[in-house]
This record gives sequence, C-alpha cells and structure tokens, in this order.
Amino acid sequence: MLWSQSLIPTLKQAPAEAEATSHKLMLRAGMVRQLASGIYSYLPLGFKVLKKVEQIIREEMDGLGAQQVLLPALQPAQLWKDSTRYQEIGKVMISFRDRKGKEMVLGPTHEEVITEIARAYFKSYRMLPQILYQIQTKFRDEPRPRFGVLRSCEFIMKDAYSFDQDIRGLNENYEKMYQAYHKIFKRSGLKFLAVEADPGIMGGDVSHEFMVPAAGGEDTVASCSSCSWGTSNISEQIRKLKNCPQCKGKLQIQPAIEVGHVFKLGTKYSKLLGAKFLDEDGKEKPIIMGCYGIGVNRIMAAVIEQSHDQDGIIWPGEISPYQVIILPLNIQDQQSKQAAFTIYRDLKKHNIDALLDERDERAGIKLKDADLIGVPLQIIVGEKNIKQGNVELKRRQDKKLSLLKIEQILESITPALEI
Ligand SMILES: Nc1ncnc2c1ncn2[C@@H]1O[C@H](COP(=O)(O)OP(=O)(O)O)[C@@H](O)[C@H]1O
Ligand SMILES: [Mg+2]
Ligand SMILES: [Zn+2]
Repeated sequence: MLWSQSLIPTLKQAPAEAEATSHKLMLRAGMVRQLASGIYSYLPLGFKVLKKVEQIIREEMDGLGAQQVLLPALQPAQLWKDSTRYQEIGKVMISFRDRKGKEMVLGPTHEEVITEIARAYFKSYRMLPQILYQIQTKFRDEPRPRFGVLRSCEFIMKDAYSFDQDIRGLNENYEKMYQAYHKIFKRSGLKFLAVEADPGIMGGDVSHEFMVPAAGGEDTVASCSSCSWGTSNISEQIRKLKNCPQCKGKLQIQPAIEVGHVFKLGTKYSKLLGAKFLDEDGKEKPIIMGCYGIGVNRIMAAVIEQSHDQDGIIWPGEISPYQVIILPLNIQDQQSKQAAFTIYRDLKKHNIDALLDERDERAGIKLKDADLIGVPLQIIVGEKNIKQGNVELKRRQDKKLSLLKIEQILESITPALEI
C-alpha cells in the first residue's frame, strides 16, 4: 500500500480526553475514530490489526474442532425473560420496541441464543459433543465507557460454547479451550496470566480469566511469582495475604486488563431454557455447557498497553497492520524513489505486506510517523546510502539499525518476520 493513497490520519498530540496510553496511541496512529462516548469507527490501520487478531482466533478455534457460526445481534427480549437474565443484566442491555410493539434487545452476549439452537438440534447423545463459536459485535450500555476500545459500548467478541453429555466431556472441552486461549494470547504477543475468577451473573461454578498485567488496567490480579496460582477475585482476605496459599512463594498484586474469560456453565442455561438430550439409555438430561469469551478489540488495546515506548506503538509481528514500512527519506531524489518502489514491488511479489511512505514530506515527519504506527521493520532509503546501493534496516522494537545491500533485504527480513 502507498501511504499517500491510505487513510492514516496520524496526530502529533492525543486529544485531551484520552486517558489510557493505548487510547492515546490508537488515536495518534489514526487507527480509530470516536463517534460518540464508547463508540468507535475502525480506520484502515485499526481494522487490519483486528482482522489479524481474528485470524489467529479462527485458526486456533478451527484447530480444536470448533465450528464458526454467526448469531443475530437483534434478539427478542422474551428470550432473556425466559432465561431470567433480563432483570439481572438490567440497564446494560440495550432494549427498544420494534414497529409491532414487540420488545427487542441488542445482545450483550449470546448464551440464550445459542441455547435455543442447542435445544432445537442437540436432542440425542449422538449429536454431542459440539463446540460452536462466532466473532460478532456485542452491545453493552456500559455505565462508564472508558479507555477507548478497552471498555466500549459496541465491541467485537469471540464467543464459543461447548455442549456435552457429561462433566467429563465438559472438562475435556474446557481444557482444550484453556490451552487454545494460551496459544491465542501468546501469538498476539501478550504477556498474560490465567487465573481463577468469579463466575458472576454468567453462572456455573468454575471460571478463569486471562489477565494482561498493565499499568492502565481496570481490574486487579493477584499472582504467585513461583507457581501458577493466581486470582482476580481480590477480597480483603487476598489483600492481606503475604505469601502464595499454594506454595508460600512471593505474591504480587497488580492492575490488569481482562482479555478472555472461560466458564463451566454446567446446566444453568439448558435447564432454564429446556435444552435436553436423550442419553444412550433413552433418559432425558439437560445438556452440559461451557462458554468462552475473548475481547477482540481489547486484545489490540492490551497489546499497545504492554508494547510501546515514548515514540509510539511497537507491534508484535503477527498482528502488526503491515510487516514492513519503506521510508524513502527524500522522494524528490530520483534514485531513492526508484529504489523504494523496486523494494516495494519485490516485497509484494514475496507476499510481504509492505507500506511505502512515498509522501513528499520531511524525513523527520516520516520517521516519527513510522515509529508511531509501530510497524516492526523499517527500511530506510537515504540519499547517501542508496548511491552505494545500501539501505538501513531499523528494528522498531529496539531501534537497532543495520546497513544492508539492496539485494540482501529479503534474506535479512525474512527471519525477522517469522518471530
Ligand atoms: N465493554 C467492553 N468493551 C470491550 N471489550 C469487552 C467489554 N466487555 C467485555 N469485553 C471483552 O469480552 C470478554 C468476555 O466478556 P465477559 O466476561 O462477558 O464481560 P465482563 O467481564 O465485562 O462481564 C472480556 O474478557 C473482555 O475481553
Ligand atoms: Mg468477564
Ligand atoms: Zn505459589
């Protein structure tokens, strides 16, 4: 892509209302635009990152045998009254009447809709187990939309649901999901903790949250530095603890962002909504369910919270909007311009997603913008170097520079792109 043909509205300064680092940087890098409080448009750079995160999620979900579906955001309120959650969720649920006067809601989550599907189709043990998932927009009238896309009123969630005959099956699926979540967050470049959590209004008795320690996090997580113990259920009792209750190791309590949440729901929804199957002996039983959520937009913001410096974002390779940015520092210099376009075409030919900043702008502006949008590798085409057939390769992560012959670019960047 050519920069001058792209919509990348970078800003020197973040608008004053942005508090969180990720929010500031997403606005400055021209990734999102606020339409109203808690409501955002994703501009091309932001959307590219979202798609990459979704791609990782899809690969890991498909990999464990989950099937993708797409459920409606628009739902009859009656379904939520049937499950008894209509009252419980309260004002967070956006509701209104359609032209016939029927009360409708915009789904804040999809346990009810998916249980209606299970009730219709999973009537025999032969149909089980099953895992269904979707990547879809949720609506929540948050009391305090904050921190940009970290807590917004319309956001994208990957929500998955497992259906089993017995607890053993549920435990197996829960474990598979738990492992897949580790892969998803690792591939997204996050440092995270998987900890015990409170199931809250979702119900069930076991739940784990995937927490990303970050200064701007709204949640709090306690974790052990020696073993895998951790919790996001921070009671007075936990706050008073000096050592890990499991191994007596050193405890750490820190702010964190919840990026994923998995629940063993058991039979809560299948009982409330009558989703039953016939087992091998012809006995009718409620289907045993699990549900598994990931905040797709939140991953993007959490990555920025953890991976940035004073100059901007530092994208991990797999979710960066572009793999490489090419920076001809003086586009008026014909040799630089030609070399930059040749490199660009060559990278494209090798399926490397490159952004060529061919704007007629000062070198300083281009270098600042490149650092700000955080593409992991910069190929800097300078007037003097190019006369010798050289370019500079800059690693965004540590700003390490190396001088390369033009012919060496591909072999030098390929290993760097694979990490
Ligand atoms: N308002 C929001 N904005 C962005 N992402 C959200 C929001 N609410 C929840 N998420 C994401 O969706 C995932 C699943 O949501 P869930 O656990 O049902 O929400 P909550 O923890 O707010 O009750 C969360 O782990 C989080 O990553
Ligand atoms: Mg949660
Ligand atoms: Zn411990």
